[in-house]
Amino acid sequence: MIRPESASANAAGSSFPLASAPAGPLTVLGIETSCDETAAAVVRLAPDGGREILSDVIRSQTGEHEAFGGVVPEIAARAHIRILDGLVRAALKDAGVGFDDLDAVAATAGPGLIGGVIVGLTTAKAIALAAGKPLVAINHLEGHALTARLTDGLPFPYLLLLVSGGHTQFLLVEGVGRYRRLGSTIDDALGEAFDKTAKLLQLGFPGGPAVERAARSGDPSRFPLPRPMLDRPGIDFSFAGLKTALRTTAEANAPLSPTDVADLCASFQQAVTDVVGEKSRRALALFAESHPNAEPVLVIAGGVAANAAIRTRLEGEAAKAGARLVAPPGRLCTDNAAMIAWAGIERLAQAHAAGEVLDERDAPARPRWPLDAEAAAVIGSGRKGAKA
Ligand code: KG4
Ligand code: ZN
Repeated sequence: MIRPESASANAAGSSFPLASAPAGPLTVLGIETSCDETAAAVVRLAPDGGREILSDVIRSQTGEHEAFGGVVPEIAARAHIRILDGLVRAALKDAGVGFDDLDAVAATAGPGLIGGVIVGLTTAKAIALAAGKPLVAINHLEGHALTARLTDGLPFPYLLLLVSGGHTQFLLVEGVGRYRRLGSTIDDALGEAFDKTAKLLQLGFPGGPAVERAARSGDPSRFPLPRPMLDRPGIDFSFAGLKTALRTTAEANAPLSPTDVADLCASFQQAVTDVVGEKSRRALALFAESHPNAEPVLVIAGGVAANAAIRTRLEGEAAKAGARLVAPPGRLCTDNAAMIAWAGIERLAQAHAAGEVLDERDAPARPRWPLDAEAAAVIGSGRKGAKA
């Protein structure tokens, strides 16, 4: 159980922040089906602010998509249909609760692969209707954005770097429902760049862990790859040019020996680490400027946050900026349903505090759903990828 006491160890002496918002107890079932992970979880908020993940079940479909080198939407949707009922049952059983014990059902309503989103959202609506509970329609990105409050009890505001297969963006998290996108990729997502690198070098899918493994024995300085967008001000990213440079370099050195592959992976990883490190330094400077009285915190989330080289670099950049890096445990950084249940709890608590009743049973499934509706649309914005 995550309690205020344990959270304070991470919270650098700040008072327990969640007291300002949620008033428990609230118990919510969360459902996540927006990509190739089918997941269900039950999370509870206690009246004293304690957060407890009562259950958290997840089934990855990696094996079903491996042969195609990426996620196939139709296969993903069918797999969700096949396994979601069983996962919901398992999540309730593990948590030791029944439908009657729930305060609400929360499900990802987008953005994501629309077939999968429809499966999860429709299932959640059916459960909500049958059990007579409200439904909370969650933006998947909001789930990622609020995870650090579930795990570390972080107060608002904080800076979030979301780096996954479908998204690469800096978000300023100012409150529940208050997100500002500060920067974003203008083409591929970073996880997608890792996956494409792995595909090019025939390292398998998903590519991130394979590239990281190969990079360990490689020479990061052998191939001078570009650091896209570093020469420009701002905190947007671009990875398409790097992908092309990598392909050209690989072709020029073909046939590739295992050493060549390791050196290419190491050089690629070094290039993206340099870019992410420098952009994070700039983002932290912007944060300090706009929120001089807030504790500077950089939260990382998304599958790429598992990369040790990137993590180490970000720790260094945060330390140099006098900031703290918060990295929720890997299992909660990648797609999961506990973050969806938690986002449901935060939204419910916010509604209760305002004396409102929250029930979004009419919410549509949305393939695209920017967290920050006011930010200008970014062309590409990393939504073309395997996990987009
Ligand atoms: O967050 P996630 O599980 O799913 C979504 O994209 O929503 O992220 C998966 C992505 C994949 O592109 C995968 O290759 C990448 O995260 N990834 C990594 C590592 N582990 C996973 N990238 C770099 N290094 C890793 N160790
Ligand atoms: Zn995600």
